[in-house]
Amino acid sequence: MLIAFEGIDGSGKTTQAELLSDRLNREGIPTELVREPGGTRLGEGVRELLLHRSDLRINPVTEFLLFSASRAQLVREKVSPLLQGGKTVILDRYFYSSIAYQGFGRGIPVPDVEMVSRFATGGLLPEVVFLVEIDIETALKRRELAGRQADRMEGAELEFFQKVIRGFAECARREPGRFVLVDGKVPVEKTAEEIFGNVMNRLKNVAEERNAP
Ligand code: TYD
Repeated sequence: MLIAFEGIDGSGKTTQAELLSDRLNREGIPTELVREPGGTRLGEGVRELLLHRSDLRINPVTEFLLFSASRAQLVREKVSPLLQGGKTVILDRYFYSSIAYQGFGRGIPVPDVEMVSRFATGGLLPEVVFLVEIDIETALKRRELAGRQADRMEGAELEFFQKVIRGFAECARREPGRFVLVDGKVPVEKTAEEIFGNVMNRLKNVAEERNAP
């Protein structure tokens, strides 16, 4: 089973992805967590270029292709082999981030983002996407509290993040069967429990379908 987490920076999606991964492993469901951009040696190199090289000028189209290149490598080097080996894979971000950030945020036509994303991933879709929702003010406050420096993407202005939030909401609206909206403002444990319950139900359904005559 392939699971993705999406949401803006500071939404708490990474925390939730880690909690879910730990919990599933504890329950005896072998699970691997991978992050985007990154997750492979090449991907980590691309991540460094995209997020931490303030000396580089990166055009939005180039930015999108770099995210996509990292994703193409991740799917082929890690995600697909893990799935074939029977593992559950949790993605901390997937191409929906490109639709929201590069499409809605940077203004690259969304059909183009979708087409390239399909090519990069070979059409691999997650069974479920947990979209952790949070308002920009809370997200920024969290970053401040954590004393974190903004990376190149996070340094963008408020208006950009508003567009990104709209982009994620639009993805969820278009695929209601795939997206599960989670509230990033309620206590972490409560959300984690909800997410875990949702995944267990799905795994049960898959098992039942398999055993059906
Ligand atoms: P993330 O790994 O969530 O950041 P952090 O480790 O700091 O929590 O994501 C890094 C940044 O990259 C984030 O600002 C979103 C951006 N991003 C895109 O713009 N497009 C994409 O396709 C992906 C995967 C990430």
